[in-house]
Amino acid sequence: MGTVWASGLVKTFGTVVAVNDLSFEAKAGEFLTLLGPSGCGKTTTLRLVAGLERPDRGEIQVGGRPLSSTESGLFVPPERRGMGMVFQSYAIWPHMTVYENVAFPLQELRVPRAETRERVMAMLGTVGLGDLHARPAPMLSGGQQQRVALARALVSNPQVLLLDEPLSNLDARLREEMRFELREMQAKLGITSIFVTHDQAEAMTLSDRIVVMNAGRIEQEGSPEEVYQRPSTRFVMDFLGRANHLPARIAKGEDGSLVAEIEESGCSVPVAAGGSWSVGQAVLLAFRPEAVEARAAEREGAWVGVVRSSVYVSGRVEYVVEMGNFTVRATGPEDARLPHDARAKLCVSPRAVRLWPREPDANGGTVG
Ligand SMILES: Nc1ncnc2c1ncn2[C@@H]1O[C@H](COP(=O)(O)OP(=O)(O)OP(=O)(O)O)[C@@H](O)[C@H]1O
Ligand SMILES: [Mg+2]
Repeated sequence: MGTVWASGLVKTFGTVVAVNDLSFEAKAGEFLTLLGPSGCGKTTTLRLVAGLERPDRGEIQVGGRPLSSTESGLFVPPERRGMGMVFQSYAIWPHMTVYENVAFPLQELRVPRAETRERVMAMLGTVGLGDLHARPAPMLSGGQQQRVALARALVSNPQVLLLDEPLSNLDARLREEMRFELREMQAKLGITSIFVTHDQAEAMTLSDRIVVMNAGRIEQEGSPEEVYQRPSTRFVMDFLGRANHLPARIAKGEDGSLVAEIEESGCSVPVAAGGSWSVGQAVLLAFRPEAVEARAAEREGAWVGVVRSSVYVSGRVEYVVEMGNFTVRATGPEDARLPHDARAKLCVSPRAVRLWPREPDANGGTVG
């Protein structure tokens, strides 16, 4: 199975720069996700890989074979790229049976009838539709239709599978079920896959690696854990989950090492060594709610606030804690739930803290 390699891709539509100098690699057998908000260029990127769009600039190779290069003028048409595609709309043919839908690509390739039958039935078995081969396509549930689309994309043994939000038309429960099925099938076939979604939970559960995109560019790429736990920009941190962002300033701690002090609070956290921070610099201190635990506090002090609200969420309690002139989202164990207006001590795991530079705004205040 081939490695997909894309370098310096640019694609504009009129004045819109849909893809802006994008380079990435999906390794052989890998499940790579392009994740980002609506309009960031995910579909355009996938269409460039598929050959459904011509890049303004850049190069695409699969398994070392050049498919598209603006430098040499090479452009291999989609039908000769050996890729299977599944899109958001099921795009299966309503006037055909399940069997006919899946057989279609093989008929186009003039595969003999007996071999077609064998391959289609095997693929229908793989996607769990063996019993439904004679069913007219419209008489299927959404999940079943999406499985037909997947079988049709895979039946010609493509090197690469491209998936553009294939699960987003399904209801929440089915979507979750299909995620696991899709992942299992992909792993079984070992097919290099590029999956597009704007749903961070979907990206987290499915991917070997995630490319987070914003405005036609890559913000960060890494494993789901890396991009979630160690986001390199505020955009990535916010896009992948909830986060507290508090205005702070770099200062020298008692032992001479650097700390970040939340403004007008007396609360500080150690700054990881190796950063390029300077004393006095304005920063935003960020951490996820699950990285800060709220415990009952005996008395006032640093990192002590008042519980303003709490909700129970799957085995944990989530709090909003007011501390001076800011609020912090925190969590705690369900068996020690703190009541409203209780005093709470917040324990932040320093390893989970991220710092971003903060520009002073025109009024001398701060922007976050
Ligand atoms: N054929 C086209 N003509 C003109 N503009 C286009 C065309 N296709 C995409 N665009 C623009 O390019 C940008 C990127 O679009 P794209 O469809 O790649 O985004 P996306 O990340 O897939 O978004 P979504 O999550 O909404 O599907 C958008 O601003 C879009 O309006
Ligand atoms: Mg799209």
